[in-house]
Amino acid sequence: MKKRTLRDIDVHGRRVLVRVDFNVPLNPSDSTITDDSRIRAVIPTIQYLLDQKAKVILCSHLGRPKGAPDDKLRMAPVGEHLCKILGRPVLTTKDCIGEEASKGISSLKEGEVLLLENLRFHPGEMSNDSEFAKALASLGEIYINDAFGAAHRAHASVVGVTQHLPAVAGLLMEKELKFLSTALNSPARPLAAIIGGAKVSDKIAVMEHLLKRVDALLIGGGMAATFLKAQGKEVGCSLIEKDKIDASIELMDKAREKGIPLLLPVDVVVAEDFRADAPHKGVPVEQIPPNWYIMDIGERTITLFEKQLRECKTVIWNGPMGVFEFQPFSRGTRSLGETLATLDATTIVGGGSTAEAVRALGLTDKMSHVSTGGGASLEFLEGKVLPGVAALPDV
Ligand code: 3PG
Repeated sequence: MKKRTLRDIDVHGRRVLVRVDFNVPLNPSDSTITDDSRIRAVIPTIQYLLDQKAKVILCSHLGRPKGAPDDKLRMAPVGEHLCKILGRPVLTTKDCIGEEASKGISSLKEGEVLLLENLRFHPGEMSNDSEFAKALASLGEIYINDAFGAAHRAHASVVGVTQHLPAVAGLLMEKELKFLSTALNSPARPLAAIIGGAKVSDKIAVMEHLLKRVDALLIGGGMAATFLKAQGKEVGCSLIEKDKIDASIELMDKAREKGIPLLLPVDVVVAEDFRADAPHKGVPVEQIPPNWYIMDIGERTITLFEKQLRECKTVIWNGPMGVFEFQPFSRGTRSLGETLATLDATTIVGGGSTAEAVRALGLTDKMSHVSTGGGASLEFLEGKVLPGVAALPDV
């Protein structure tokens, strides 16, 4: 799993093509960036390259354009934002390959940064077209993949390009792989995983894989409803995935056989309606009223989960405990986040909505690692080989 990194090669004065994941959320009204964590996360790689006087050529996708230019998804606002963070100019181009890109790069000097236009304006990016990959590769002399968030995509800028250039991992990619693979393969024990979020179907593969490795599995969020239903409890109007009831029973059985504690909510906060201002109350899971919705884990569950977590030396967290976007139902997610923040343990937060929750709670800096990958970290925790990681040479 250990990959060659940019420290293993001489980048001095070279044209270095760096795949980053600048797929950042934009405010639809003015295209301003609402969360720049993914940009900030690659600054160490960019800074390293600038210190080495490399010519830094960044490339990324943004959103899901349909293989053609889309003015709402141009990289220019991202370039402006990066320019402010770096405190130096960032050139941008009108295309990511061809004459426009080459023209921009020909004027690029050592220690300067250029950001290519959105890779997905070309259909060849997502289809991993070899001509597109070749055209992109021709812009650089060395390729660095620092886009962990896109490593689960077998796209041209992630996989195809490695056929044409010496390829290594960037510092963010190295950090993500180190935290996630250590947690899975050689964690300080006890190791617990907290899994939440809306749907069992999104997380069942992760839970199955993690059950082979963890010392405790804690399940909360909307998906707990399917597990409670599988135990024969009534869950009101909460979403249940009927086709996942058997898989939930199997998982609980497997945990029992292995002697691994699988903790489910013992009480929940329920609301009369799925609204932030709906009347709500805490109830034991045996007394969920018909027509009410499970919105969060309850007080006794928070205490139960915290007790388990306090014994741990490594914790992986993927998925909020409730509808944390609605303030009255954010307590479970916040309490667990605050507990993790105080643990003397390695705490790893999966990307996507969990990273968003941790950021909203102001706890990002208190975690050992908050992944920049949503889908990528989920697939990694499922035990899948990420194409973008596989394409990079091992040490
Ligand atoms: C992400 O946001 O998870 C990555 O940037 C990948 O984006 P995609 O799901 O559009 O491929």
